[in-house]
Amino acid sequence: MNFDLSASVGRIRYLASLRHARKYLEIGVRDGATFFAVPLPLKVGVDPAFTFDPTEQEVSGTRFFPLPSSLFFHKLKKRQVEVWGPEKEGETMEDRPRFDIIFIDGLHTFEQSYKDFTDSLEFAHENTLWLFDDTVPCDKYSAIPNEEESLRLRKEAGCPGSPWHGDVYKTVLAIHDFHQEYSYCTLMGGNPQTVVWKAERSARNPLFGSLQTIARMRYCDLLTYHVVLMPVEDDQLPRLVGKCLSPADLVNPFDNALTALMTKDHQNW
Ligand SMILES: C[S@@+](CC[C@H](N)C(=O)[O-])C[C@H]1O[C@@H](n2cnc3c(N)ncnc32)[C@H](O)[C@@H]1O
Repeated sequence: MNFDLSASVGRIRYLASLRHARKYLEIGVRDGATFFAVPLPLKVGVDPAFTFDPTEQEVSGTRFFPLPSSLFFHKLKKRQVEVWGPEKEGETMEDRPRFDIIFIDGLHTFEQSYKDFTDSLEFAHENTLWLFDDTVPCDKYSAIPNEEESLRLRKEAGCPGSPWHGDVYKTVLAIHDFHQEYSYCTLMGGNPQTVVWKAERSARNPLFGSLQTIARMRYCDLLTYHVVLMPVEDDQLPRLVGKCLSPADLVNPFDNALTALMTKDHQNW
């Protein structure tokens, strides 16, 4: 195996090789640094603000949609956009486009990244693999879901740089609780990202009870529940992907921390 599992492109290439992938969807493309480096024949990129002119870059097998992801999925469902050729006569819902690899790297909020995941399920198949970017915020400032506020508070605190991961980590927690037919692990090397796949339904116990509880979480709660992200070294990916995993079962129950989460004042970190 000769893939760099510490960064997006190497990870996507590796996942694509596992699945003999042909069809790739990237939500949030920006300048195409990842998109153009993915060597698959059928690629779709979605971004409301590409930093290049997508009409100049569309080659055979590549489609760009300058739309927010929710609108893209809505149009795809309604068949108001086509990705690879017109709908054929007699085509059923089963014939809709299904992607082998889906890279979710659009708006860095729980609400949007979770919606991107649930919207994408209709355009996935049993062997689809997802890669989520931004699932591990580097500090409490980067975990603030509002980008402007995140950058302002970081600056006011005199912290350098401008990393912004938002609260995408909550999407992993939601998959843990509400999508038990999906397993995942979070690659912690280089740029941490989470790989998700369909597996045998896991017997893992939901921890948080509702999406609202997850939405209320703050960075300090993530520190308590970080093991639910299933953090692993990059080189563990090959022996984990495809398996049914229950990350929270690996550690002691979180009873005390959970009680604290449900009762604390969440205005503060
Ligand atoms: C971090 S950049 C993507 C980087 C790219 N995936 C790469 O690896 O080179 C995030 C992108 O998400 C886009 N974005 C923001 N909101 C979005 C949305 N609702 N749907 C799709 N993309 C969105 C932004 O315009 C931005 O270009």
